[in-house]
Amino acid sequence: MKKDYELFTNETKAFIYGEQLRAAQRMLDFDYLCKRKDPSVVALITPERGGFEKFFWGTKEIRVPRITSLKEAAARFPEADVLVNFASQRSAYDVTIETLEVPTIRTIAVIAEGIPERQSRRMAALAKEKGKWIIGPATVGGVKAGCFKIGNAAGTMENIKEAKLYRPGSVGFVSVSGGLSNEAYNIVARTTDGLNEGIAIGGDAYPGSTLLDHLLRFEKNPEIKLLVCLGEVGGTKEYEIAEAVKSKKIQKPLVMWATGTCAKVLPGQVQFGHAGAKANTAEETADAKNEALRKAGVIVPTSFDDYHSKIKETYERLVKEGKIVPAKEVSPPNVPLDYAQAKAEGLVRRPTNFVSTICDERGDVHNYCGVPIDTVIEKGYGIGGVIGLLWFKKEIPPYACRFIEMVVQIIADHGPAVSGAHNTIVAARAGKDLISSLVSGVLTIGPRFGGAVNGAAEHFLYGFRNQLAPREFIDAMKTKNVRIQGIGHRLHSLENPDARVELMKGFAKKHFKATPLLDYALSVEQVTTQKKNNLILNVDGCIGVLLVDLLKELRFADSEIDEMIKAGLFNAFFVLGRSIGLIGHYFDQIRLEQDLYRHPLDDILYDVPKGPEKVG
Ligand code: ACO
Ligand code: LMR
Repeated sequence: MKKDYELFTNETKAFIYGEQLRAAQRMLDFDYLCKRKDPSVVALITPERGGFEKFFWGTKEIRVPRITSLKEAAARFPEADVLVNFASQRSAYDVTIETLEVPTIRTIAVIAEGIPERQSRRMAALAKEKGKWIIGPATVGGVKAGCFKIGNAAGTMENIKEAKLYRPGSVGFVSVSGGLSNEAYNIVARTTDGLNEGIAIGGDAYPGSTLLDHLLRFEKNPEIKLLVCLGEVGGTKEYEIAEAVKSKKIQKPLVMWATGTCAKVLPGQVQFGHAGAKANTAEETADAKNEALRKAGVIVPTSFDDYHSKIKETYERLVKEGKIVPAKEVSPPNVPLDYAQAKAEGLVRRPTNFVSTICDERGDVHNYCGVPIDTVIEKGYGIGGVIGLLWFKKEIPPYACRFIEMVVQIIADHGPAVSGAHNTIVAARAGKDLISSLVSGVLTIGPRFGGAVNGAAEHFLYGFRNQLAPREFIDAMKTKNVRIQGIGHRLHSLENPDARVELMKGFAKKHFKATPLLDYALSVEQVTTQKKNNLILNVDGCIGVLLVDLLKELRFADSEIDEMIKAGLFNAFFVLGRSIGLIGHYFDQIRLEQDLYRHPLDDILYDVPKGPEKVG
C-alpha cells in the first residue's frame, strides 16, 4: 500500500493514453534498468484500435494490450493507479476529467501543452477535491529513481545512466521545466548520492500540482534528506515555499533557484518559454523571488552558476552530520540498444539474407538496375527496355526492345482452345478469382505448350554448336527419344503457316545483323516437314532461336546464354505475353456471366474394368 507522500514505487503500474510507442518503450527500458520484477506499462489506451503492441523487455519481447476504453482498462488492470495522458491539446482535458472519475487511478500526468487556463484550473480543482494528483499540463512528467518514470522524462538512456536514476538517492527535486529537470538530475548525481524523486510540474500558469505540493510530499518522505528546487520568473508560487520554510512546514534543507534573472536586462516584460513564465509585477521577477527565499532560510546560490556547488556543500554537510548515509552504488543491467539505432550508430552489423542486383527501392525514386523510374519513363525505355534492365541488367538497343515487344504482343493470345486459355476459362466458370484462374492457365505452360521456347534454344544450340547436319541432329534427338522443342504444331503447317513466325522472321531478317540459329532451325524444319507437314518451326521455336541470335548480337557471352537457358528464362517471354491473353479470357467469361462448365459425357471414352485387380 502506498504511503500518502508516495506517488510511485517499484511496483507502480500505469496506463499510457495515446499512440506513444516510443515513450512506452522508454518506460519499459527504465523499468528493466531498475531491475523491476515486472513492467510498469500494463496497457495502451488507444480508442482507434484494440489488439496489442510488442515491446522489448531487455532482449526479450512482451505484448502490451491495446484497450479502446479507459473504463475497460481500469476493470482489467485495477492495480494500475497512474495514467500518462498523451492526448492532444484538444482532448487532454476530457481524458483527464474522465480519468479523475476512475476510482483506481490516483496520479495523472498531462503532457499536452496549450490547454486553456480555464480547463487547467478545473482539472486542478477536481483533482484536489478527489485527493488525486495531476502532474502537468505541459510537462514531461517525472521519475522515481530505481522505480518508475513517466513517459519520456529524464531523457535518453545515456542521461539516465549518467544520472544514476536506476537506484534511489537522497534528493527530492522539483522544477517547472522538464528540460531543466533532466539537467538537474545530472547535477544532483554529480554533487550528491543521487535523485530519489524528480518532478517537472509543467510550465502552465495553473499546474495540477505546484512546486510546494511536491516539496511537502518530499518533506514527509523519510528516504529524502535534501530538497532541491528550480522555480522561475512569473507567478508567485515561490513565495508560498518561502512561507512554508519560515513556518517550519518544510524543515529539510532546501537548495533553490528561481530562473529568469536575466529578464531584468531585457527590454519590457519578457515571456520566457513557459506560458506562466512572465513577470507582470516586481514580485514576480526571479530576483525578488530569490531574495524572498534567501530571507526565509532557503539555500539560494548567487546565480545558477553556483547552484551545483550549493547542492554539493549542503549534501556534504548532511553526510558529515550523519543525516545522510550515501546510497550504495549498484551496477545496472545493460539495456540493449534497438537494432535500428545501433545500426544507425554503426555499433552492430549483420549479414543480409537476401541480395538484389536489379532493383533498389530505397532512394527517393526507385531504380531498375540503376536507372531511376522517372528516367525509364522520360527516356521511353518501354517494356522491352525494362525487360533489358530487370531481366538482363543491360540497356539494350531500340531494335532489340522492339523485337521483345513484338514477341510479347504476338504471343499474347492464340484463342480459347489452347490449353492455357481453356484452363483459365474453366476456372473462371468455376467461380475462381482472377489470380487463381490466371495461374490455372499459366500452369499448363510446359514442354508441349508455350514452354518450348527454352527447350528450343537448348536443342537447336546443341545441334548448332556440335555442327550436326539437320538429319544428324534429328536422328540424335530421336535416338535420345526426345522431341525437338520448337518443332510441330497442331494447327499450323507448311500449308497453313503461323503468321507470328512469319512476322518474327521478317523482323529479324530486316533488323538483326545475322540469324545463324534461325537459319539452322529452318534447315531442320525442311527435313522434319518431309515427315509431316505440321512439323514446322513453331512460334515457341522461332522465339527461342531468335532470342539466342539477338543476345549473341548484343554480345552476351555463351555462358550468360547457357545460364539463362538453365534458368528457363526464355519461357518467361511466353508467360509474360500469354498472361495478357489469359487475363482477357478471364474477364471475357466474367462479362459473359458464364456458369460452371462440365465436360460432355459423349466426349469421354469410359473404359472402366468390371472390378479392381486383386493383389497380395
Ligand atoms: N520432334 C520430333 N518429332 C516430332 C515432334 C517433334 N517436336 N513432334 C511430333 N513428332 C513426330 C512424332 O514423334 C510422331 O512420329 P511417329 O509417327 O514416328 O511416332 C509424329 O511426329 C506425330 O506426332 P504427334 O504427337 O501426333 O504430332 P502432333 O502434330 O500432334 O504434335 C506437338 C504437335 C504436340 C506440338 C508436337 O509437335 C510437339 O510435342 N512438339 C514439341 C513441343 C513444342 O514445340 N511445343 C510448342 C508448340 S507451339 C505452342 O505451344 C505455342
Ligand atoms: C499458342 O500460341 O497457344 C499456339 O501456338 C498453341 C496452339 O496449340 O495453338
